[in-house]
Amino acid sequence: MYRTHTCGELRISNVGTEVKLAGWVQTLRKFGSITFVDLRDRYGITQLLFNESLNKSLDATPVGREYVIQVAGKVLERSNKNAKLPTGDIEIEVTEFAIMNVSNIPPFTIEDDTDGGDELRMKYRYLDLRRSPLRQNLELRYKVNRSVRNYLDGQGFWDIETPFLIKSTPEGARDFVVPSRMNEGQFYALPQSPQTFKQLLMISGYDRYYQLVKCFRDEDLRADRQPEFTQVDCEMSFVEQEDILNIFEGLFKHVFKDVKGVEITEAFPRITWDDAMWHYGNDKPDLRIDFKIKNAKVKKEVFCNVLNTVDFKVFNDAETILAIAVPGASEYTRKQTDELTEWVKRPQIGMSGVVYIKCNTDGTYKSSVDKFFTEEKLKEFASFCGAQIGDLILILAGAEARTRKAMSELRLEMGQRLGLRDHAIYMPLWVIDFPLFEYDEENNTWAARHHPFTAPKPEHVELMNWPDRFGEIKANAYDIVLNGTEIGGGSIRIFQRDLQEKMFAALGLSREEAYEKFGFLLGAFEYGAPPHGGIAFGFDRLCALLGGQESIRDFIAFPKNNAGRDMMLDAPSAIDEKQLKELKLKVNI
Ligand code: AMO
Repeated sequence: MYRTHTCGELRISNVGTEVKLAGWVQTLRKFGSITFVDLRDRYGITQLLFNESLNKSLDATPVGREYVIQVAGKVLERSNKNAKLPTGDIEIEVTEFAIMNVSNIPPFTIEDDTDGGDELRMKYRYLDLRRSPLRQNLELRYKVNRSVRNYLDGQGFWDIETPFLIKSTPEGARDFVVPSRMNEGQFYALPQSPQTFKQLLMISGYDRYYQLVKCFRDEDLRADRQPEFTQVDCEMSFVEQEDILNIFEGLFKHVFKDVKGVEITEAFPRITWDDAMWHYGNDKPDLRIDFKIKNAKVKKEVFCNVLNTVDFKVFNDAETILAIAVPGASEYTRKQTDELTEWVKRPQIGMSGVVYIKCNTDGTYKSSVDKFFTEEKLKEFASFCGAQIGDLILILAGAEARTRKAMSELRLEMGQRLGLRDHAIYMPLWVIDFPLFEYDEENNTWAARHHPFTAPKPEHVELMNWPDRFGEIKANAYDIVLNGTEIGGGSIRIFQRDLQEKMFAALGLSREEAYEKFGFLLGAFEYGAPPHGGIAFGFDRLCALLGGQESIRDFIAFPKNNAGRDMMLDAPSAIDEKQLKELKLKVNI
């Protein structure tokens, strides 16, 4: 028997017991004739005591960091207890030990706070995974996985696998493709999601489907995006939007409670897409920040009367003027407001400056535009913004889209500076009534905002006949947002062949192209397709948020870096001539 207990298991109640442990040497500390070793495994760390006689054997067969050893000994109460460790009350007085394997000196210290840089840790991911922060992340991931499955199982969902070697599914990214040896010159695409398969399963009658499934998207990577990531993918038949929102709101409540002990009893707020853009400047509002955007002027329409009475060119010429009243920030110094100006001028934000009004605690108003606004007018603007004494009003002016995006970022930044984006607070919401289409300026075409299988709201189906009114069409499409991150999205689907054909045509696909790409689905719609809809969650994102982090990378055992590379495998890599020949491929670079 290698071990009787794990390294996380022994407590004061075990004192006197003879035990065997096995694990990795985290540290060695020699004190004269005795040595302490911290032994680590997945479960924790236990202190080993090598007394005088065994110390000699240790000198004869030295043990180093990350060696795998096995020890036998007796559990003792520690004189010098460590309250930070669950096993900190005890130590093992070693009577026998064996080295099961040696280790090179690891390239970085395998401790909670490591000295290893990102790339190095990814190259030696198997070592990084020994560190407790990563181990805790993977444990959390497993718990979320189990919790999701338990809930969906209880609701009668079946986990059904779908293939990876498929034909393109349009989810807005590029496909990863796989050449087929048996079908010369032809390629599979890896699924961006199982979207069409889950719809086909509805047509087959499997009316509650789910899957924890890998999806593959060739797109620019960010902290919350990986080229291969995991979705909790779901689909239901004979349901309306309300049914789907209820079932999946239940799922989130279940997971929050099960995994984090957080009980949310109220219904999640629901905000229309239009309102989200109006009040927050984006479609994934972070509700932990309680101040909203005030729309003083939008696309030349003035909503704040005082603007009509002020002669200030920047404001007069601007298409849009947006403001936020930041609570308690009126004490900002000149240095801090200058620094905010620099912040909005960064290329990512792209504004030429920010106007501020301080609603001072002594009742006075001071601004960066005192030349143009009398104090009375500043007060009026502040009252339009609903500002309180002590607030700092920040105003951006410019072209609609840029200004709205910049204000959305500024709101998040100020929320961050005020410490409002606390990871321990969960503020989920649904964003509903998404537009069906969005205009693709680059290609001068309409594109599907969610995907081409999303149905227009029944009352907007008529508008599908009028391309100049496509912008008005709304869908029963919804996103679930948690703390400013989109963690899931879905929609009620089209299930009639003629409407689906109309949708493809609206997106600029000819009949032939539509048939070539999606003939299987169009055909299936002719054999009794039920009304259906669904949703998919970003499983990695959900885990990262529950773990209190923005980046999903450390919640995935073997992730890719920002260039899409696996640093450990050194993939992607070239393939040899023989493989190329078999696949009838030529590399042309
Ligand atoms: P969508 O494209 O919105 O919907 O994806 C669903 C959720 O998946 C997560 N996600 C990602 N997570 C990590 N890395 C990525 N590259 C990445 N891309 C997306 C997000 C997102 O909300 N088939 C539809 C769902 C449906 O209609 O039922 C779909 O895939 O959290």
